[in-house]
Parts: sequence; C-alpha cells; structure tokens
Amino acid sequence: AAAPAPRHFLDLSDFSGDEIRRMLDASADMKAIRRKGARAAERPLVGKTLAMVFDRPSTRTRVSFDVAMRELGGETLMLTGSEMQLGRGETIGDTAQVLSRFVDAIMIRILDHGQMLELAEHATVPVINALTKHSHPCQIMADVLTFEEHRGPIRGRTVAWSGDANNVLASWVHAAARLDFTLNVASPPELAPPASLVAWAQREGARLNVTTDARAAVDGADAVVTDCWVSMGDDDESHRHNLLSPYRVDAALMAAAKPDAIFMHCLPAHRGEEVTAEVMDGPQSVVFDEAENRLHAQKGILAWCLEAGGA
Ligand code: CP
Ligand code: NVA
Repeated sequence: AAAPAPRHFLDLSDFSGDEIRRMLDASADMKAIRRKGARAAERPLVGKTLAMVFDRPSTRTRVSFDVAMRELGGETLMLTGSEMQLGRGETIGDTAQVLSRFVDAIMIRILDHGQMLELAEHATVPVINALTKHSHPCQIMADVLTFEEHRGPIRGRTVAWSGDANNVLASWVHAAARLDFTLNVASPPELAPPASLVAWAQREGARLNVTTDARAAVDGADAVVTDCWVSMGDDDESHRHNLLSPYRVDAALMAAAKPDAIFMHCLPAHRGEEVTAEVMDGPQSVVFDEAENRLHAQKGILAWCLEAGGA
C-alpha cells in the first residue's frame, strides 16, 4: 500500500477553517502548559528531527522553530542554502528525497514559491513553508493567536492592512477567507494585492476590501497591521519609499481605527518608515507578544505535521 501523503504546511488556503482552528487551539493549549512551567510533561516529538533550510536570513522563524522542537522533545538541524549542494546546482527535488531519508520534517525559507512547492512534491516527510515571496503562513498563525488573546474571537472582526501588499498580506487574505473576518487593505496601486489573490478571495467568499486610502481602510478596524517597505528580494528603490510613505502607521492613522485597536507587525520593523516609533513602542502595540507567539504557533503547526493522527 502507498504511504500516506505527508502532512505539509504550505499555505493557509490549503486548509479548512476548522483545521486552522484545531492548530490554533493546540498552540494555545501548549502556551498555557508552558506558562504553568510544566514544559516537561508534554514532549510529543521525542525522537523527531526537523531540518530547517534557510536560503534567506531569519531571527524569529529560526529561533521559534528551534526552541519549539526542543520544548516538544525533538531536535533540529540548521541548514543554509549556500552551504548545501543546492548552492552548487543539486536540484530541489533530489534534495527533498535525500533529506526525507534523514529527518522527520523539513522547514524551508526560500523566495521562489515554486521551489518550495517542488520540495514538497518530492519530499516523503512534511514540508513547512517558512516564508516565500508569495506567502508567510506560519506568521499569520501567530498573528491570529495574538489578535484573539487581545481582542477575542477574530470571526466577524475587522483587520486593516496599510502598506505593501506583500507575502505577509497574502497569508492574511487566506486567513480572512478561512476564519471569516473582514480584511481591509490599503496600498498604493503599484503595490496592491495581485489580481490572482483578489480573484481567489472573491471565489472563496472572503470579505476583502481593497482601497488606496489608508484612512478608509482603518475605519472601524480592531487591528491595524503593516510590514516593511522593502521585503527580502525587493530592490531597495527610493520609489517604494515615495509610494508607501502615505501608508505609514502613525498616531493619526491609529486614531482613525477603533479606540481599542491593536497595532501588529511581523517584525523586523523600521521605525520612521512603515511605522512611527510612537506607535511601535506605544500602548496599542502588541508586536512583541506577536513575536513570542511565533513559538507557540510553531508548536501547533509541528504537532499537526508530525504527530501520528495529527491534531
Ligand atoms: N517575522 C519573521 O518571519 O521574522 P524573521 O524573518 O526574523 O524570521
Ligand atoms: N515581508 C517581509 C517579511 C519578513 C519576515 C519579507 O518578505 O522580507
């Protein structure tokens, strides 16, 4: 009999709302256990190894996956694209088959989304998307966890994005469709959500509103979200700065959202560019809770990928 298909975590659009919810619940449970100092009691991944392939830099994703595996009883291997034979032309498909013989799961950060999908196609163990140019699903698991801790269930609520409609925004769109919240996106026309993403959202019945007006987007919002102006792989052209400066999240923009709105950012942040220091370091900002929640979210994802039967 054929081996069961590996439980990949590639994009939130691949999952139902219920599946995402089960992973989030598992994350919240493991966070509560950790808070009680009972981390030794829950070690479901003893004997499991995660290979972490980084073709691009990372602070949060790297450390949170590493610590999550250790706390769940597993081990990690840190691999950088340039130090592997991948950097000398070995195919991603061959790399997938070889790594699958050694480890129990593969996490990869690589700009080319197609390469990530090819890894998943050839791997016989679960593959986790740790950021491509197209999406950043692990980040949005942590973001939803953070939103719900501060503001309660996200269903029916409103999240506003102001800035470049990048990979992080794409995963927010996927989450909005699956978890039934409204997502208002304000971007300059040149950096608006891709037509294919907007069409997907429409097909899936997502409440996605796209505008060029940041004030209109944050009106009635429970959370205001932004990200860097220059993502990995983007040219650091001054025209991006000129296009995006009207979308900077400052105190005036926060004041146009709900009075108790939270400010979120996946980090790393650039004070004075996409967000002012006043907002980033102010009372509405939950950015460091969001960073911490990467750890708890990774546990829910890893448990789903690796536990027999899953979450
Ligand atoms: N937010 C995020 O993915 O951070 P890193 O690039 O540091 O992993
Ligand atoms: N949009 C950013 C996110 C970094 C975590 C990038 O892709 O560089």
